[in-house]
Amino acid sequence: MDTKTSQELFHPPPPIGDRIMDEWMLDPEIAFMNHGCFGARPKAVVETHQELRHQFEARPVEFLDRRRPHRLLDAKERLAEFLKIRGEDFGFVTNATGGVNAVLRSLSFAPGDEILTLDHVYNAVRMSMRHVAGQIGATAVEAELPLPVTGPEQVLDAIEGALTERTKLFILDHMTSPTALLFPIEPILRMCRDRGIDVLVDGAHAVGMFDLDITELSKLGATYYTGNLHKWLSAPVGSAFLWVHPDRQAEIHPLTISHHYQQGLAAEFAWQGTHDLSAWLSVPAAIDYFETYGWERVRGYNHGLAKWAHQHLTRAWDVEPISPPDGSMLGSMATVRVPESAKARFGSAERLRHCLSREHRIEVPVIEWNDHWWIRVSCQIYLKAEAIERLGEVVMGKGT
Ligand SMILES: Cc1ncc(COP(=O)(O)O)c(C=O)c1O
Repeated sequence: MDTKTSQELFHPPPPIGDRIMDEWMLDPEIAFMNHGCFGARPKAVVETHQELRHQFEARPVEFLDRRRPHRLLDAKERLAEFLKIRGEDFGFVTNATGGVNAVLRSLSFAPGDEILTLDHVYNAVRMSMRHVAGQIGATAVEAELPLPVTGPEQVLDAIEGALTERTKLFILDHMTSPTALLFPIEPILRMCRDRGIDVLVDGAHAVGMFDLDITELSKLGATYYTGNLHKWLSAPVGSAFLWVHPDRQAEIHPLTISHHYQQGLAAEFAWQGTHDLSAWLSVPAAIDYFETYGWERVRGYNHGLAKWAHQHLTRAWDVEPISPPDGSMLGSMATVRVPESAKARFGSAERLRHCLSREHRIEVPVIEWNDHWWIRVSCQIYLKAEAIERLGEVVMGKGT
């Protein structure tokens, strides 16, 4: 059966606004399709951030000593409402790598214990697992999830086949980094809960991309959840959070132990040494920005564009999709395999990167992973379908 003709044809969603790019700091000359890397920020968020830095520099002690507690609480309260968690159950961290490390390096593992993840794991997390496991003779295990992934059951089977009696912690990507796959988080959590295995969810891409209810996820079995706020929430770089189930909070400490050691999770994370808090305090401004459009509309546009990009590029490049063609395992990003003809023409991934970024001003990652090259397109409200069409042509040697 010809899957191209039997499949529903997607169309790009109508743009959210004509002049939306004017609201962002991004250089309008660049077709920016790498929001998934460090995010990008609206001008309103950057202005708030700068104003806070100004206030700090004008009165450092007033800002960081006397005003900090209530300002931090206000920012946390807003984020708590957004993530559907309690303020006392989480703390700000600088990035998701830091959130993962705070958990891994707080826990006690014994020789022979296994820390499990899938082979789509983000490399920094892989290295953190290896470091912690290597220190005490535990093992960092990666279950294989071959491509293409035809549906959520395949992910569940891969995990189920790799869980053992020695598995002490499972690190679950909510959305994977190289392959941009939305994992079936609810059934995975239930499966681990039924076997008494703690789960650390790496939600580096999830905040803003999905409508998160972490309290609901905790009922299903999430023990820890960390996520970046500088990616799909577009808060300043250096803003992320770590949520910990109340039963485990006494064990978990920030990477930097400071004055409030053993005074509870929220107190410990609220002071991790002298630090510029302006990124964390700007988080409400980022939530405000997207609320002016409405989250449903923002997510609808981003997901619709990613779904269309996935279909358009797999067809234009005549490659097999790595996830279900209906887009059910996508969020706001799509990873598509670079065709062999393009690989032969460019010779190296570096040459393709150079061609895209320098010659065509297209900012998109070319990822070398599992013996292939992949392009991951990130769809945020400022991106238009025409840019993705141009990417499709450049890779096929048709771009002007
Ligand atoms: C799945 C995943 N986890 C963790 C991270 C780490 O994010 P950060 O560099 O902000 O710590 C990333 C970054 O892209 C990621 O994609």
